[in-house]
Amino acid sequence: MTPQTSNQGVTMVDGVAAADPSKPKGPPLLDLHCHILPGVDDGAQSLEEALAMARYNVEDGVTCVVATPHCHRYIHLLRSDIVPAVARFNEALRAAAIPLAVLPGSEIQVVDTEAYKREFEQGEYCHLGDGQEFTLLEFNWERALFPHDADELIRWIRGKGMTPIIAHPERYEFFWDDLKRVAGLVEAGAWLQVTVDSLIGNHGPAPLKAGGELLLRHEEIVLASDAHNLNRCSGMAAGYQWVQKNAGDERAADILSRGNRIRSRLEKTED
Ligand SMILES: [Fe+2]
Repeated sequence: MTPQTSNQGVTMVDGVAAADPSKPKGPPLLDLHCHILPGVDDGAQSLEEALAMARYNVEDGVTCVVATPHCHRYIHLLRSDIVPAVARFNEALRAAAIPLAVLPGSEIQVVDTEAYKREFEQGEYCHLGDGQEFTLLEFNWERALFPHDADELIRWIRGKGMTPIIAHPERYEFFWDDLKRVAGLVEAGAWLQVTVDSLIGNHGPAPLKAGGELLLRHEEIVLASDAHNLNRCSGMAAGYQWVQKNAGDERAADILSRGNRIRSRLEKTED
């Protein structure tokens, strides 16, 4: 193992950012995009791995995680699959005395907007917190599969009273040379979720650059980990530290308070 220091001063061991026990405890953090649910997708492969991710989150200051397994062509998890699995995982967390709340959700990939609308109308999707206020969308990595009518879909979702949050826009190659496409989605009413690992450089220079630019261009930004395991999990605190250092305290506080507002809405849904 070769301990190293990332560009943000987060201690890394073989690519894993270690939670620093000497780090002052900050405000409770939300992670609204995380593949923590065990054995359902390409995230945590076992209960043990999921519990280890949960412990890491607690160390990092995260008190609430939205489990967002994939809902795409190959792994198509729906609310009927996810809600009971989250309830079982919360029982396991209680049994292990890990003080972390996990809410249901999913990361819904949109390729065909008509198919999306159909399943949405049928109530099959698990939106964030299993509620009706926020939903997490992603696109396929292939440029050719980006829906030509994505802006219209965002408006359609807003018309349903829900705020769509676009997962990791900074990671799509087809946005790198044309961030105006992202602006179109934002103008239609989408919020953007930037991934911590992009900001701290773990996804390479292009997502780092695009993530930084999106933070400057757009107001409605939230941070999330999109963690799949402990090798791909740098924690939320590192993301806020990056924003503080590169965009200032005010911007970091703004993004944090947006996360807190989302969290209070999602927890209200759970009651
Ligand atoms: Fe994801």
